[in-house]
Amino acid sequence: MEVNLGVSLKLLKNIITIDGPGGVGKGTLAFSLAKKLGWEVLDSGLIYRLIGFIAAEKNLASSKEIIETLEKSSIKLITNIDSYSCEINFNNKILGEELRNEKIAVKASEISKDANIRSAIIKIQRNAYLEDRGLIADGRDMGTVIFPEAALKIFLEASPEIRAERRANQLKEKGMNVIMHDLLLAIKKRDEKDMNRNVSPLRPAKEAIIIDTSKMCISEVEEKVMEIYKKL
Ligand code: DC
Repeated sequence: MEVNLGVSLKLLKNIITIDGPGGVGKGTLAFSLAKKLGWEVLDSGLIYRLIGFIAAEKNLASSKEIIETLEKSSIKLITNIDSYSCEINFNNKILGEELRNEKIAVKASEISKDANIRSAIIKIQRNAYLEDRGLIADGRDMGTVIFPEAALKIFLEASPEIRAERRANQLKEKGMNVIMHDLLLAIKKRDEKDMNRNVSPLRPAKEAIIIDTSKMCISEVEEKVMEIYKKL
């Protein structure tokens, strides 16, 4: 599903969408750009992770139960640009680190196949955009579905092997044990699911600029995006 808001879609220069597969560096790029531009960040994956977490914790089996629970709940995104971190205040409980593990990522990816759940959280995502402050939106369908009016749409790519290596380094930094083979397999499986679902599959928007980050460091990617942004 690619949203077509009509030919007269007014492009907004203060939204940059960054889509791409897991572990490709979207989050780091989003925060570094936001810091540079003084903008906000939307980490849309964290919302899917939250839903995966709630579904597991409350034993919710159907999308109907999940959506009813979401409708009754208060969900506030908390972003701290300086510390490059996002958390969610879910009914006055702050959730962050507990959402960032592979088990929850798999749950999030499973849940994200559901068209009704995806529709139920469009508003939360669009509300992250405040006209007087720009937004860097990070996810899988930011350019295609959530912010089709963004004037700059970036799609990041890198091989699964490179992404697994980057993820492994992050986990090692946190003192966690890493089995490379398992990590690579998990990344490939999640790619497969995210790219092949029927609704809002992971793919670049038609007008997206594709950047292969396999051989680039974050400052090079940031520089490239800023160059393109300045020419808008
Ligand atoms: O970006 P992430 O790894 O935190 O995302 C977790 C999962 O959530 C991802 O595998 C698919 C889903 N997701 C999605 O379907 N659409 C988004 N915009 C963001 C994430």
